[in-house]
Amino acid sequence: MANSSKNMEQHHIESSPLVIQDSFEGYPLNYFNLPLHYRDDLKSVLIPYGLVQDRIEALASRIFSDLHIHIPEQLICMCVLKGGYRFFSDLVSKIQNENRLRNDRSLPMSLEFIRVRSYVNDRSTDAIDIIGISDLSSLNNKHLLIIEDIIDTGVTMVALKKELEKYNPKTIHVVSLFTKRRKDKKCIFKPDYSGFEVPDHFIVGYALDYNEYFRDLEHICVMKESGITKYKVQDG
Ligand code: HPA
Ligand code: MG
Repeated sequence: MANSSKNMEQHHIESSPLVIQDSFEGYPLNYFNLPLHYRDDLKSVLIPYGLVQDRIEALASRIFSDLHIHIPEQLICMCVLKGGYRFFSDLVSKIQNENRLRNDRSLPMSLEFIRVRSYVNDRSTDAIDIIGISDLSSLNNKHLLIIEDIIDTGVTMVALKKELEKYNPKTIHVVSLFTKRRKDKKCIFKPDYSGFEVPDHFIVGYALDYNEYFRDLEHICVMKESGITKYKVQDG
């Protein structure tokens, strides 16, 4: 009896990303169901859908534990469209599960949706446009959780956070499903919570796109060079 508390050691869920090593090239495609229209364009399955779901469930549990302390104040969950929509939907739904199943704590939420346009052809400026939210002044004095699909260079998130800070939210937390381990330069932003750190490949699936293709793919996959060429858009 006296030992029972020892057996209940705190299980602390990691807020930092699960690292996918460079040496891991992904799973062969023929072990998975994949849409016919993308099969020739992909190299491998880097993170299967089921693993993505498991990690999101763990993140939801960690975020719930960390952020429920603000009740009865709402947490504004902000979806960064389009790439973040699947992650946002699954994360919010898994936090709702925590709310439904626990009687000792709760985390009320409200939902907002934005799109961010960054000026990709002019990386020297960190100018961004926020579109799709009616009134950012609603953030005043509120707790904000920004829900993003991937942080690559970090430039967009630094600019977005700076922009949102102008509306004086009480707190800002950032959760990104993926962070990229860049070969060329360090990423300039570290999110509060992250699902996976991925090698420096272009990844698609689970709402992450390449020129609007591959959002309709469940697994996180690495593209073949031929796929990158096939869906390339000539600009200018
Ligand atoms: N995949 C999809 N979108 C992205 C990526 C990526 O690897 N990096 C930045 N945006
Ligand atoms: Mg994109």
